[in-house]
Amino acid sequence: AEGDAAKGENGFKKCKSCHMIESPEGETIVKGGKTGPNLYGVIGRVAGSADFKYGSGLAEAAEAGFVWTEESVAAYAADPKAWLADNGFDAKSKMSFKLKKGGEDVAAYLASVAPA
Ligand code: HEM
Repeated sequence: AEGDAAKGENGFKKCKSCHMIESPEGETIVKGGKTGPNLYGVIGRVAGSADFKYGSGLAEAAEAGFVWTEESVAAYAADPKAWLADNGFDAKSKMSFKLKKGGEDVAAYLASVAPA
């Protein structure tokens, strides 16, 4: 991944209407909405494993033990439904938002706000 975390911090503004970033200790890193799961530590985390009622696609990814990388989060954010289909999971997504550009930067930012 060649993302720029500083640019991605700005890009995350597009995500925070639905996603917060909050540490397990309860520290709020980015105040955000609750429509989507908490994205703290999402890079390196098993997909569909936060305290959230996921759709069937990410539930299948969780069962498969799929672990998010910067690359896969960037691809997912660009088109969640297409990403699920491309990876052999049920192409049903509760996230309909598609990030047009800068996914690598947002992924690098997400990697930077949580311990590896
Ligand atoms: C799920 C990233 C914007 C709603 C996810 C997941 C990631 C992600 C990585 C999977 C998390 C996991 O496996 O625990 C992003 C990024 C965004 C963004 C990087 C901005 C570029 C949004 C927006 C909304 C949204 C704007 C609401 C309008 C959701 C929902 C899910 C989800 C509902 C759960 C999907 C499901 O269960 O099928 N998002 N998201 N996201 N996101 Fe986003």
